[in-house]
Amino acid sequence: SIQTDLSEQGTEISQEMIGVFFEDINYAADGGLYAELIQNRSFEYYSVAGYVDLDPLHAWSLVQEGGATAGMSIQNTEPLNENNTRYLNLEISAQGTSAGISNSGYSGIPIEASESYNYSVYIKSIGDFTEPVIVKIKNASGGILASDTIHNISTSWTKYSGVLTSASTTLAGTFQLDTKGLGILNIDMVSLFPENTFKNRKNGLRKDIAEVIEELQPKFLRFPGGCISHGRGIENTYLWKETIGDVAERAPNWNLWGYHQTYGLGFFEYFQFCEDINAIPLPVLPVGVTCQFRDREIVPLEDMEPYINDALDLVEFANGDVSTIWGAKRAEMGHPEPFNMEYVCLGNEEDDIPEFRVRFKMIADSLKKYHPEIKVIGTSGTSHSGSHYDGLWEFSREEDVAAVDEHYYVEPSWLINNNHRYDQFPRTGPKVFIGEYASRDDRMVNAIAEASYLTGVERNGDVIQFTCYAPLLCREGNQQWHPDLIRFDNTRVMKTANYYVQQLYSLYSGETTYGVNYTYQDGINPNENIYQGQIGVGSWNTTAEFDDVKVTSGDKVWIDEDFSAGSAKWQVLGGTFNVSNGIYVQSSYDTPAWSIYTSAVDTSVYTYTLKVRKTSG
Ligand code: AHR
Repeated sequence: SIQTDLSEQGTEISQEMIGVFFEDINYAADGGLYAELIQNRSFEYYSVAGYVDLDPLHAWSLVQEGGATAGMSIQNTEPLNENNTRYLNLEISAQGTSAGISNSGYSGIPIEASESYNYSVYIKSIGDFTEPVIVKIKNASGGILASDTIHNISTSWTKYSGVLTSASTTLAGTFQLDTKGLGILNIDMVSLFPENTFKNRKNGLRKDIAEVIEELQPKFLRFPGGCISHGRGIENTYLWKETIGDVAERAPNWNLWGYHQTYGLGFFEYFQFCEDINAIPLPVLPVGVTCQFRDREIVPLEDMEPYINDALDLVEFANGDVSTIWGAKRAEMGHPEPFNMEYVCLGNEEDDIPEFRVRFKMIADSLKKYHPEIKVIGTSGTSHSGSHYDGLWEFSREEDVAAVDEHYYVEPSWLINNNHRYDQFPRTGPKVFIGEYASRDDRMVNAIAEASYLTGVERNGDVIQFTCYAPLLCREGNQQWHPDLIRFDNTRVMKTANYYVQQLYSLYSGETTYGVNYTYQDGINPNENIYQGQIGVGSWNTTAEFDDVKVTSGDKVWIDEDFSAGSAKWQVLGGTFNVSNGIYVQSSYDTPAWSIYTSAVDTSVYTYTLKVRKTSG
């Protein structure tokens, strides 16, 4: 039986507990949440040794029909602008029914009957080009579903746009630009968007995927990564200023998960999405130390100014008045009202090295000085197993940050056995942000382990402020990381069992947790039959509890597993938790005595209660 006393003072549960973490991994942005249907729209794909194997003509093919002869090449001598340097040069040397180019989207362009699609393209004719250019959506067998005509092609870069409404549905359409003319055309930024985006935003999000995220009722959105936020090397770092403004002027970047980022889904769109789903924006900014897993590079101290300014300017972009430089840019993009950003996350699971600490401090101190209203969230590195006192946790406490981001991708058993991980967590100082976690698969057992772990999270809901499963999205056939919360293809969105766990805790979050007393069905009350310090001698069928186990601050205090002694199995009921080199519990079948070891580190003493129960043998 279970008893609880509601007159006791309970523990408040964070009302911001369940959120989402969006990273452009598994084609989550381009080809995913970002609704653009054209792949490689500005011919900016390229290869990066060891990371990306794609070329600037990827997803494009040449059209030569009815006797036409043409050639296409990538050029960069007369670019659209300095950020968008490559374009396609189409040279038609013999007229026919049509010569042009065709894009196959992300494994086909899905088109729905009666839906409207907004297209746009930049074209510049070289010399006299009098023939019109025809824009077509075609189905897989070449049938034309919709078309439009562009007249009077200019000899300077000009944007042409229109709306196409399809007569029928296709799963694998193509988008074609062609002409009967003869001569040379330069083409760039070819775009096709469904009119029906999430909340009807221009340059918007794929409605079905965004809605499935919205149905989680996430209380916050952590973005844009993950590893991509600090990038593989300085050149690859995600700099938010490159992701705002006119999409044709955003400098694209390659993606360390093996493809490219158009940055069409950039910081403005992330903030707007947060607003649309009522989620707190938690942007992650790089601190001048790039990914430790990928030949880490470190920005020289004298070059840190742009990183510091990026943090300060982000506050202005998100919250500043329209009379400020960055507030005005936000207004130009259509959002004069502030986005009300409260937090900035600095860094993503960097190693605890002095170079990181000093750079983090430079940015955090500037934020404190110029924007004391902004709460900084730190990082605890990659390892989930460190104590909440050492390494970057200790540093974060010194820095007095609002919360610290912990990541762990673990076996389901780890989640079950570490349910009590935060029970002894200090109730003052930075809160916990579990900014990435998952048990390593998406079978039912993983979902159950996550659900079970979240009971411990809720129990500690006074100190765990935010949690988010990771990664969030995966495009079928483009998976770089398993498991993922939501999978999709061009027309379907599939929720995992893990998704439903997140949704359960998000939608039915409690406000307060209360202590529970329980008695087992076999009549054994774990709160009785208490043995101090030693158990088991002559009394096999019982439970035992050690009171007042003293451990010192800095100790690692866990019990990983239930443990066996010969045929006997002892189950840990609660309290403390194992670590190999900290406190641990040992037993032996022959001499059933239990010992607790600890290695003292400093003088603070904490009291734990450890309960064990023999369950068989
Ligand atoms: O979620 C996938 C990756 O795991 C993230 O990019 C990174 O932060 C972590 O190592």
